[in-house]
Amino acid sequence: MRLLLIGAPGAGKGTQAQRIADHFGLVHISSGDLLRKHVAEDTATGRSVRAYMDRGDLVPDAVVLDMLRKPVIAAAAAGGYVLDGFPRTVEQAQQAYGVAKELGVAVQLAVFLEVPREELVSRIVARGLSSGRTDDTREVVENRLAVYEQQTSPILDYYRRRERLISVNGNRPVDEVTWSVVVQLQRARRALDKQ
Ligand code: AP5
Repeated sequence: MRLLLIGAPGAGKGTQAQRIADHFGLVHISSGDLLRKHVAEDTATGRSVRAYMDRGDLVPDAVVLDMLRKPVIAAAAAGGYVLDGFPRTVEQAQQAYGVAKELGVAVQLAVFLEVPREELVSRIVARGLSSGRTDDTREVVENRLAVYEQQTSPILDYYRRRERLISVNGNRPVDEVTWSVVVQLQRARRALDKQ
């Protein structure tokens, strides 16, 4: 299976992506984690993206697409992937589709985790007390949420129109959300298998 998780900052993409990957034997690929690793290791990529991330803005598309190409191809060959944090714009979705389709590694299903704004802010501010993430402050969260609304939320329509979108209420205990996603993915996979 080749999946991606969509949701606002704090929606639980990272948490659920790992659980879904474990359940179905897939590779979890997080664009945010890979970027933070570059920053922590002070690579050229890390130095070029640090300021964008500290502000809560999106880093340039070319950086993300280059960074993800190899891991996505490797994961697809190893049985499938759960992508978390990518794509963040319709342009990223279109560009990724162009490359991935040719290689036969395009996304099959997108899972949208729906969580109300006040819950998102409270989760991130709470995590900020211990995470050490420079973008987990109340001020930066406001910008991350605005960027999500303006630049990322249009991808929901992109996948909905292609009948690839599964929506899940993410405002429940972690185990309940996982269970709901797994059940819906199993159903969707049976439908895909019949195609
Ligand atoms: P990224 O790392 O992707 O951050 P994000 O989207 O802001 O998401 P978060 O990691 O904050 O939240 P999440 O939805 O993964 O939730 P999580 O499971 O962690 O991106 C960071 C930055 O990198 C971006 O701002 C941008 O600069 C750059 N970037 C990344 N990808 C990019 C791209 N494709 N293009 C351009 N730029 C890109 O959970 C959050 C908290 O809530 C945790 O404490 C968790 O324990 C808790 N929690 C989770 N689920 C529940 C639940 N059900 N109930 C209660 N608490 C819960």
